[in-house]
Amino acid sequence: MYRTKTCGELRLANVGESVTLSGWVQRTRKMGGMTFVDLRDRYGITQLVFDEQTDADQCERANKLGREWVIQIIGEVSERQSKNKNLPTGDIEIIVRQLNVLNESITPPFTIEEQSDGGDDLRMKYRYLDLRRPNVRKNLELRHKFAFEVRRYLDEQGFMEIETPVLVNSTPEGARDFVVPSRMNPGQFYALPQSPQTLKQLLMVAGMDRYFQIVKCFRDEDLRADRQPEFTQIDCEMSFVEQEDILQMFEGMSRHLFKSILNIDIPTLPRMSWADAMKYYGSDKPDTRFDMKFVELMDVLKGTGEFGVFNEAEYIGGICCEGQAVYTRKQLDQLTDFVRRPQIGAKGLVYARVGEDGVLKSSVDKFYSPEVLENLKNAMNAKPGDLILIISGPDTLKARKQLCELRLEMGSRMGLRPKDKFSCLWVIDFPMYEWSDEEQRLMAMHHPFTSPKPEDIPLLDTDPASVRANAYDMVINGVEVGGGSIRIHDAKLQQKIFEILGFTPEQAQQKFGFLMNAFKYGAPPHGGLAYGLDRFVSLFAQLDSIRDCIAFPKNNSGRDVMLDAPGFIDQSQLDELSLAVNLPQD
Ligand code: AMO
Repeated sequence: MYRTKTCGELRLANVGESVTLSGWVQRTRKMGGMTFVDLRDRYGITQLVFDEQTDADQCERANKLGREWVIQIIGEVSERQSKNKNLPTGDIEIIVRQLNVLNESITPPFTIEEQSDGGDDLRMKYRYLDLRRPNVRKNLELRHKFAFEVRRYLDEQGFMEIETPVLVNSTPEGARDFVVPSRMNPGQFYALPQSPQTLKQLLMVAGMDRYFQIVKCFRDEDLRADRQPEFTQIDCEMSFVEQEDILQMFEGMSRHLFKSILNIDIPTLPRMSWADAMKYYGSDKPDTRFDMKFVELMDVLKGTGEFGVFNEAEYIGGICCEGQAVYTRKQLDQLTDFVRRPQIGAKGLVYARVGEDGVLKSSVDKFYSPEVLENLKNAMNAKPGDLILIISGPDTLKARKQLCELRLEMGSRMGLRPKDKFSCLWVIDFPMYEWSDEEQRLMAMHHPFTSPKPEDIPLLDTDPASVRANAYDMVINGVEVGGGSIRIHDAKLQQKIFEILGFTPEQAQQKFGFLMNAFKYGAPPHGGLAYGLDRFVSLFAQLDSIRDCIAFPKNNSGRDVMLDAPGFIDQSQLDELSLAVNLPQD
């Protein structure tokens, strides 16, 4: 037997027992005639003791152990003289009788400890060593537990986990596809699924009633901290349901996950319309850990003074930062630089402080009468000591997004966004369509199978841009963790939506004919949603990037630096696939 116990389980109650342990050498220390070794495995660290007096040869061998060697020891559990309160096994140590080296290790490129000295790239290259670090391992343990609890909840609710294929054709989530050439069908390609959307709808036509799958999805899009080219969804679909049934079911799942994993009772999720989310937070995924809602100031500041920027604006909005009037001129200049960064793109920032005397002083004082400034203070509900920040612009959507960035920045600076506080909500009533400047046409905001709100169906003919969808997102701490919709199950309505999206009947038939045909055979009313498992887990683990809860993630250029993928393939392989590679000249 390689071991009778793990390195994480021995306590005072085990003193006197003879045990066999196996693991990795974390470090060795020689102190006088004694050698101490920290032995590590997935479960913890146990201190081993070698005594020169009892066995000089063996102690000598222990002195030669290197970091990350794999060893097995047999010894006796003993109470420690000086206990280590920071280690669960810190009350005991093992007096080693026998040491067997199972495998040697070359010196690892970085220290395998909670605070490693290895940079990001190096740790990713040797991710299998990085994963030995307890903090990284803990994220994977949490992920396992999370997936397990998802399955437990959904199984109890009668959901069936069904696998869908990975070699499919283009799916409608709006990103670029990853494609796979088919050797047997020269010149033809599979696309990897951006989600199993159409397949789960076919499973509803097939009568599966309640489906789920923890499934890899692939999207070739620009990467960010919360995006990976391959990521995992908890993908769900239900038949004979309305939006309310779905919100209830998955609010229940979130409640179960918070309780079973973090022991947190979450309150009933508030529901916010998309229009309100945009109006008060400038985002369809508002961070509601803190308030600081937008106040529209068009009535107060447009045309009421000589400030040209406001007089020409289509939107003027402000936020009130409580107790921040202490901001110095330099700090305010920094904030102005912040909103002027190209990613944010605001022209500038107007600020106003309410002094302890209750009088408002602003950077545009000279353009406005004291009455207007008093109106501004009242509109913002600002108290002595508060700071008001105002953004304006010729495009409402853009100006709101800029104010959103500023609000988040102030929230962070004011310590209002702690990672261990959770604020969940549903954002509902999304628009069906959004205008794409690039494509010069309306695009589906969610995807083309999303049903319009029944009361808005007449608007499809007159004012499609104002039609609202039966679509919803779950948002936690400003992160979209999941989203879905009630689907169209009527072939005629689906046809109409395709038309509005600019597909000719032939194009619609070519792309989605299989689904339209299936709908002719009795499609039940159905709907569903998908969560981003990586995003949900990384919130629970309080991580900055979803990469940290993925065993083998890709970097920002979509590379796996450990496997060195993607890579070139042999000419013979290209020939077999009937492919020619045409690299750009530079
Ligand atoms: P959607 O495209 O909103 O919906 O995706 C669902 C959830 O998946 C997560 N997600 C991602 N996570 C990491 N990296 C990415 N690149 C990435 N893209 C998306 C998000 C998101 O909320 N088929 C529909 C769902 C449905 O209608 O049932 C869909 O895929 O957390």
